[in-house]
Amino acid sequence: MTNKWTPDSWRDKPVKQVPTYPDNTVLKDVESRLRTYPPLVFAGEARKLKRQLADVAEGNGFLLQGGDCAESFAEHGADNIRDFFRVFLQMAVVLTFGASQPVVKVGRIAGQFAKPRSSDIETKDGIELPSYRGDIINGIDFNEADRIPDPARLEMAYRQSAATLNLLRAFAQGGFANLENVHKWMLGYVSGTPQTQRYDALANRISETMDFMRAIGITSERNEKLRETDFYTSHEALLLSYEEALTRIDSTSGDWYATSGHMIWIGDRTRQPDHAHVEFCRGVKNPLGLKCGPTLDPDELLTLTELLNPENEAGRLTLIARFGHDKVGDYLPKLIRAVEREGRKVVWSCDPMHGNTITAAGYKTRPFDRILAEVEAFFDVHRAEGTHPGGIHVEMTGKNVTECTGGARAISAEELSDRYHTHCDPRLNADQALELAFLVAELLKRDRDGMMHKDAVNA
Ligand code: PEP
Ligand code: CO
Repeated sequence: MTNKWTPDSWRDKPVKQVPTYPDNTVLKDVESRLRTYPPLVFAGEARKLKRQLADVAEGNGFLLQGGDCAESFAEHGADNIRDFFRVFLQMAVVLTFGASQPVVKVGRIAGQFAKPRSSDIETKDGIELPSYRGDIINGIDFNEADRIPDPARLEMAYRQSAATLNLLRAFAQGGFANLENVHKWMLGYVSGTPQTQRYDALANRISETMDFMRAIGITSERNEKLRETDFYTSHEALLLSYEEALTRIDSTSGDWYATSGHMIWIGDRTRQPDHAHVEFCRGVKNPLGLKCGPTLDPDELLTLTELLNPENEAGRLTLIARFGHDKVGDYLPKLIRAVEREGRKVVWSCDPMHGNTITAAGYKTRPFDRILAEVEAFFDVHRAEGTHPGGIHVEMTGKNVTECTGGARAISAEELSDRYHTHCDPRLNADQALELAFLVAELLKRDRDGMMHKDAVNA
């Protein structure tokens, strides 16, 4: 495993979840063009994110990671991106207030296109077709032509990612994220719910604080921390030919970076230590995520942390626990203890989505109370183990969808068909996302108050 790494050394390893293209010469042409395109992100930005995640690993900060399960070509519009960003900022403000700690903001966006599937085949009305694998690979429509993997889609995904990132950079740095706008991030259709009232109350407190600060001379015109925010992108590094083509040497450090996004992660289905996805990811210097599901045993996790983070650098590796509300209490402690025993520096994040998927009224859905229950159990486990619950990883949208059941508006299984738009897994809508953020803020506050109590007792 100490073999020399190159951007294409993954090609000598067994690989799962990648498509077979009908014509390799077309694929090669696309790959060679992609290799000449500008990077989407810069190594210096990925390093900055890693430093911020290092603080989280040390217990000072919280990671908020979220966005679509799968971005799509059809839904690429400014309104979607803006609405997502608004909810994301609202969640971040709620969490910052609750935790009194910096919140590191990482979107599942501007590159989150490729999907691992549990089955290679989808069957409908007795007809079998290859499964949809994300817009970067094939089309979602249930017909033979759409489901053929098409290399042209790699370039379309690259261009969409570039355009999305351009708008996100403008939002983050061009005034939209200014804390003076804290009231304006509220979405029109989310009103009159308990969440909006809570958010309004919190936004009022922030506005009051801003007024006070302005009175003493601290204004957003003069202080970029009030005016701008750091927002990063991330996606699952699944389609390795795309990732390889966008992997570049950073001229300042001489190191290799994936320039398709600031942070990339390895999915629960492709994390075999001797396989291609781990091989690719170990060689780039970006912050990495690793999904940890019920089939991951503690020894294998230690092998993976060694492979992916041999220097035990804080901020390099985020372990994203996705067990299910009824399993996290059994499985997570073993992993935490192994990591603690070996002194591995990691960020622990909770993905309460992927272990809680069920089918109801013919739709893939996730009951909101199970999502909340997994997050609460994740916090309880960390509290018992004395470790830092460092973040959450969620599938969410700014759109008023009906994909997950429950929440304050109590979406029923029968209502799922009203606005079920996801290209893959069910997402939290804005209201549910905000409700989750308030719950997490309370849990963070509980931990913080507990710490303060402990300090007072120890003093
Ligand atoms: C995902 O994050 O969309 C996903 C497929 O997750 P996992 O690898 O944890 O199943
Ligand atoms: Co998903």
